[in-house]
This record gives sequence, C-alpha cells and structure tokens, in this order.
Amino acid sequence: MKKFFVIGNPIQHSLSPELHSFWINENKINASYEKKLLDKEGVKEIIKDVKNNLIEGLNVTVPYKNLVIQYLDELTPEAERTQSVNTVYMKDKKIVGHNTDIAGFELAIRYAKYDVSGKKVLIIGAGGVTPSIIHALLKMNCNEIFIMNRTKEKAEEIKKIFTQIQVKNWGEKVDFDLIINTTSIGLKNDKLNLDLNVTNKMFFDLIYNPIKTPFLYNAEKNGNRIENGLMMFVYQAHQSFVIWNKVIPKIDDKIIKMLCR
Ligand code: ATR
Repeated sequence: MKKFFVIGNPIQHSLSPELHSFWINENKINASYEKKLLDKEGVKEIIKDVKNNLIEGLNVTVPYKNLVIQYLDELTPEAERTQSVNTVYMKDKKIVGHNTDIAGFELAIRYAKYDVSGKKVLIIGAGGVTPSIIHALLKMNCNEIFIMNRTKEKAEEIKKIFTQIQVKNWGEKVDFDLIINTTSIGLKNDKLNLDLNVTNKMFFDLIYNPIKTPFLYNAEKNGNRIENGLMMFVYQAHQSFVIWNKVIPKIDDKIIKMLCR
C-alpha cells in the first residue's frame, strides 16, 4: 500500500487527509493519506523514509515549506523560484520538492473568473505562502504588486526575490483592484486592523475555515466581490494527487460540500 502524509506544526486543522482519502477511494487506489505533527528533527527523519521508499509522497505545510528544502536532492523551477515546497516525491532515485500552491492559486483565480491582467494587487502578509501568490500573479500579468506586513523586514526579504514588488508600511493607504490576505488573521477570532473602506474591488482570503473571515464579511458588506481559499486548497491538492498517482481526480460539488462541513 502506498503511504502519503501531510506534515506540519500545527497540523490538526488540515483537511488534506479528507480530500486525498476521498480521491483515493473514488479512484480505487491502494493507498493511505494521514496527517503527521512533526518537529524539525522529525522532518529530516521522514524525508529519509521517502528516500527509502517507505513513503510515496508528502505534502508540507506551515512552518516547514522552506526548511524541508535542505533535505531534498532537487527542486522544480516553481519551488526554486519561491523557495517553498509543499509536495515531495521520488523521481529517478532523486527526492524532488515541488510547489503546487502557485498553480492552486492561479486555478482558483480562474475558477472565480477574475482577470488579474493589468490589475493593481495589494498583498497583506509575508509568510510562507506569500512568494507563491506573487509568482502566480506575475505569471498572470498583473500590473503592480504592493505588499505590507506587520513586520516590514519580512516583506523586504520577499522583495529580494521579487524585485518588482513595492513594499508599503502597515496601514498605509494603497489604491488596489485586488487585495489578498495571506496572513493567519481570521483563522481564530482576530481582526485585521487596517482601514479597508472601499467598494467594487475584489477581496481574496487564503483562509477557507471559517469560510467567511471578518476580512471577507466586511468587504462583502461594503459591496466588494469576495473569494475564500477553498478552491486554492482543492487545486493545490489536485496537482499533488496527479503527480503522485498519475490519475486526474474529479472536482465536483460533493467535494466542496464535504470540505464545507
Ligand atoms: P510563517 O511566517 O511561519 O510562514 P504564516 O502563518 O505563513 O507563518 O504567516 C503568518 C503571517 O501572518 C505573517 O505575515 C504575520 O505577520 P508577521 O510577519 O508580522 O508576524 C501575519 N500575522 C499573524 N498574526 C498577525 C496579526 N495579529 N497582525 C498582523 N499580522 C499577523
């Protein structure tokens, strides 16, 4: 039986096992997919299990998407550019790190039928997933990218990779068409303390649980379009599944319902 895991810390919140297990069953694949809470040492150890063919593949989540890189043999161009890995597998006896967050975000934006080309985008946050969002936006030909983070230095670090983006101060007024929350604010009951009194814009939150964060709730009330991170989550998982199992699983209402429970 093939074994897959999603690793991270914390990991309790992850819905990846539900989604992958659903597709595994639907496609009659002899495999299991579970979540594993690991410390840094544990990450190093589990990579050895992939090398020794005891584990077929891994998804990597917060806070190990960058840390895992040192244990891998090869990065795909997407993982290299963003220095972020969320999918691990063996290929030609080499352990490869790939990034499906980029494609996940791009497909989610396309699913929402939002055209990014020529748009001004404001990104809130500079955490592990932010470089993937920037890479996808540049690929989709957006016009300008602004980034602000409570800890400005972290935004400055990202600018070293993507020199064309503009770093703004936390709370500074920015004219945008699309705003994306990449922070963890909203996962609990916390609120973004930013003045976002605009209308007719697009608000995207990478969080999907809760399905409507205060960021999205207020945006909708002010007459903006809103989109949560559910489809990005589904599409990044879909891309990993295809790589590992060479099968294209279905994305349908059944899956959305299962994840929105
Ligand atoms: P990591 O940095 O380990 O990848 P993450 O959860 O992906 O963690 O990212 C956390 C993001 O949420 C960061 O941008 C963080 O801002 P800081 O860099 O200033 O810590 C942001 N964040 C979390 N809680 C926040 C809060 N209460 N106010 C503002 N930003 C917050």
